[in-house]
Amino acid sequence: MVGTDQQWLADNAIEVLDSVVDAIVTIDAEGVIQSVNRATEVLFGYPPSELLGQPVEVLMPEPHRSRHQRYVDSFLTTGQAHIIGIGRELSALKKDGTLFPIYLAVSEIKTERGSYFAGIIRDLSETKANQETLLEQRERLARVGRLSTMGEMTASIAHEINQPLTAIAAYAQACQKLLQKEDCDLDRVRDGLRKLNEQSLRAGAVIERIQRFVRHEGSQKELVDLNELMRDLVHLAAPDARLHSVELTFDLQEDLPVVYCDPVQIQQVALNLIRNAIDAMQEIDCAHGTEVLVRTRAEQVDARVRVSVTDSGSGVDETNEPMIFSPFHTTKQEGMGMGLSICRSIMREHGGDLNFENNDNHGCTFFFVLPVGDENE
Ligand SMILES: Nc1ncnc2c1ncn2[C@@H]1O[C@H](COP(=O)(O)OP(=O)(O)OP(=O)(O)O)[C@@H](O)[C@H]1O
Ligand SMILES: [Mg+2]
Repeated sequence: MVGTDQQWLADNAIEVLDSVVDAIVTIDAEGVIQSVNRATEVLFGYPPSELLGQPVEVLMPEPHRSRHQRYVDSFLTTGQAHIIGIGRELSALKKDGTLFPIYLAVSEIKTERGSYFAGIIRDLSETKANQETLLEQRERLARVGRLSTMGEMTASIAHEINQPLTAIAAYAQACQKLLQKEDCDLDRVRDGLRKLNEQSLRAGAVIERIQRFVRHEGSQKELVDLNELMRDLVHLAAPDARLHSVELTFDLQEDLPVVYCDPVQIQQVALNLIRNAIDAMQEIDCAHGTEVLVRTRAEQVDARVRVSVTDSGSGVDETNEPMIFSPFHTTKQEGMGMGLSICRSIMREHGGDLNFENNDNHGCTFFFVLPVGDENE
């Protein structure tokens, strides 16, 4: 130790060590305590001087207590250190028998009278308690996170399966009615059953996609012509549109570049947007027209394909605007508020995005963009 005034340092070394917040204990080679600073007595709960001349093991719980002297002896003969010069976390024993966590750093003091050891002991009780609280908080957060993910997951399954199920029930009822007629048109029954089957396959595909998602397998992507995919939508979305006196029209750009995507998921997004458009038109009793327009366009600048769904419905008002993509936000009595949030996450997982704008006259346009694809990307 050096000081600007070496004599002052020599005179005040004890005060200096007594003012240290960590406990400092020195022992001789037999493990007998030679000195302790004030912090040692406070920390371990001993009255002044009671520790002097005691074996240092009194400060240690088992198994360190019975191993300690063997450890010191081995260090003195072999020079192999486990703690000396290194330091580690251990537990220590107070006079009243309480255990508490410490960080112990030990150094060797070589003197003419042989080796002595100085141990600096830092009380880790508070740090550990903080760490434990932190850990507990983190675990609680993870649990809440898992639960809300499960909640969203369940809602998403219910939401996605609802559409084909409703359609299946409608086709089954229609077939039953047809069969009750005396001059039953078997071709129409066959057609109904074919559509029913198509919807049940669709429900199966949606479930499979969710299973893949749960297994973290990602989506099944392929090179897809979005025009074809949108054309296929007609028989999936048309019954719903017809039921609500809405007309589905398509404006599909020729020679559209292909995109690399999961076709089931992308159709699901388009279906959701069409469903919302129909709802928005219903809300104002189709006061501004009955058309829902699906349009595809290639965006040259960013090499993306844009698909939009335009309606002349209620439009999105300013107060709702910031929330419409949040899960469980809905303005509909029967709505779950999951559609747009699911759709946006699907688009983002594809490296694309989903957004909307209110039209100049009436209603709004929801659109998604996907990067022009090649499977090696
Ligand atoms: N085309 C649209 N025109 C006007 N408002 C819309 C349109 N699409 C969505 N919205 C608004 O965004 C909200 C959220 O839509 P989202 O599809 O996420 O849920 P939802 O349709 O209410 O319920 P569901 O979970 O059954 O789809 C809707 O409740 C509606 O207020
Ligand atoms: Mg919806």
